[in-house]
Amino acid sequence: MSRAIEQLQADHRAFTRLIEHMESAMERCLQGDDIDLMLMSEFVDYCSGHADDFHHPLEDRVFDRLLARDPGLGPIIRQLEQEHLHLRWATRELRDMLEAVNSVDYVRRDRFLEALGEYLGLFHHHISTEEERLFRRADRLLTEEDVRQLDAWLDSAPVTAFARRDGNDFQRLDPLLHAVEPTTTR
Ligand SMILES: [Fe+2]
Repeated sequence: MSRAIEQLQADHRAFTRLIEHMESAMERCLQGDDIDLMLMSEFVDYCSGHADDFHHPLEDRVFDRLLARDPGLGPIIRQLEQEHLHLRWATRELRDMLEAVNSVDYVRRDRFLEALGEYLGLFHHHISTEEERLFRRADRLLTEEDVRQLDAWLDSAPVTAFARRDGNDFQRLDPLLHAVEPTTTR
């Protein structure tokens, strides 16, 4: 199997775990708990760096190869590519909102939680669609040359996509991320 596909599927397991954790955290906030700003900030950083700058660009390359092998995949691939753009935009919006969140400002707080809920729902559904509609068929469709090109991109991917913007570690997310073994260690 392509190492690129293995990496994407390992990412999906990690993202799914994070999404479920964030949904629980969001529920507690909706019940009245304070927003854990460190957790939220780490989640947005991880989505911005790992999902928007590494995972989705790699998927876009996989989609190009799959489309070349089966043009009938055009509609679902266009939908998923649009969702990548939407998720990138939504990550930026979450970051902007997070910077403005103040626990005593309930309007901003509620808007942030609403936007977070929409983001988590879209991301979860997006991952399921990719797994069910594309990745199950990827091995059968991709040629040896496709696999070589995708794995070469994986090897040259920007390491900065895996780092926090402030240079600190992912303290809150680390136990969750380490529970899912990535294919590529960076
Ligand atoms: Fe994905």
